[in-house]
Amino acid sequence: MKVLVVAGARPNFMKVAPILRALDAAGHESVLVHTGQHYDSAMSDTFFRELGIKTPDYHLGVGTASHAVQTARIMEAFEPVLIKVHPQWLVVVGDVNSTMATTLVASKLRTETHMHIAHVEAGLRSYDWRMPEEVNRVITDRLADLLLTPSEDAAANLAAEGITGDKVSFVGNVMIDTLMLQLPIARATDTLQRLGLRRRNYVAATLHRPSNVDDPTALAAVLDGLALVADSLPVVLPLHPRTVKNIERFHLGAKLTPLTVLEPLGYTEMLALTDSAQCVLTDSGGIQEETTALGVPCVTLREQTERPITISQGTNHMAPWPLTPRGILGAYADSVAAVAKATPPRPAGWDGHASERIVKALEKHRPVKHY
Ligand code: UD1
Repeated sequence: MKVLVVAGARPNFMKVAPILRALDAAGHESVLVHTGQHYDSAMSDTFFRELGIKTPDYHLGVGTASHAVQTARIMEAFEPVLIKVHPQWLVVVGDVNSTMATTLVASKLRTETHMHIAHVEAGLRSYDWRMPEEVNRVITDRLADLLLTPSEDAAANLAAEGITGDKVSFVGNVMIDTLMLQLPIARATDTLQRLGLRRRNYVAATLHRPSNVDDPTALAAVLDGLALVADSLPVVLPLHPRTVKNIERFHLGAKLTPLTVLEPLGYTEMLALTDSAQCVLTDSGGIQEETTALGVPCVTLREQTERPITISQGTNHMAPWPLTPRGILGAYADSVAAVAKATPPRPAGWDGHASERIVKALEKHRPVKHY
């Protein structure tokens, strides 16, 4: 089987790493395409190196632009590659622009290529159409031939959109494959020592969602909330490039003074930081899952989550919306107290073997014709 796997942005890399490994182990040919949506060494190369991902067979070098331009550039550059590679399967992961753009290209070449599209992390929904990722999820799921879901709640979201039957397959959470493989390595690093931190004696935070960082009032409220938390424990904040740019643009630099600000961390150091934190405050999607897998309290700084299983069966708590400094502080205290009472077990399928189930699903799938 020849499988073309797409990766574009930071949250894709920890998902494609185990899939490529499992394809290799099962004797299948994989072709890796990096769209170049993320291009900085800290946002991309570091992850390839740490996670042992092969050098991409094709690098599209699209870089940053508006949504329309970035999507169009990916589509334009990907089409000839897809025609040349002519795989049996296109595998896309997650919900970034690269996921949706490459799916759209492939779906229009179905007749010529007889290729099929598999979406890993299918069926997640925030029901918030202001999020570009929600648009990407819905379009990708509508066009894919095989919907590989990470948690048991995802199938109900798909069924509500009329997507049912053999094309939906529960494989579990592939991010946790990488987490379980890398955890001993993360625990052996000197990350905490290097940063002058002690286990369970600091809070880790990440911030990059447009809803939090593209508006000066919202960004100021979140940074003030982190400062309130920092009154009791150090708050460590590895900063995403989008957030750095906006803090400068809105002249909010002084609000970082109470916080320990870092450059974006690589996978292993971020995992070490998350694993030993007393609590993580985040607007990321993946970190909600990683904290649940690790049993670390998490506060999600968003209006809603597409990963509700991390609340019903995990350690995640939503901060009250709209975000206020006091609301963030209260949610932080509540989440730490709740997890101290009882740490929930990991959701089903978050067991480190999702990538093997993904490959099995590709092997046995008999696609339904779209035409
Ligand atoms: C993208 C994804 C988001 C994911 C996030 C993780 C979409 C719609 N969004 O958002 O789902 O959670 O990645 O990081 O696909 N930048 C750099 N260097 C880089 C990459 C980006 O400096 O390597 C800067 C860009 O110049 C831009 C900003 O960061 O100003 C945002 O980058 P962009 O790729 O547009 O979106 P993200 O916010 O990273």
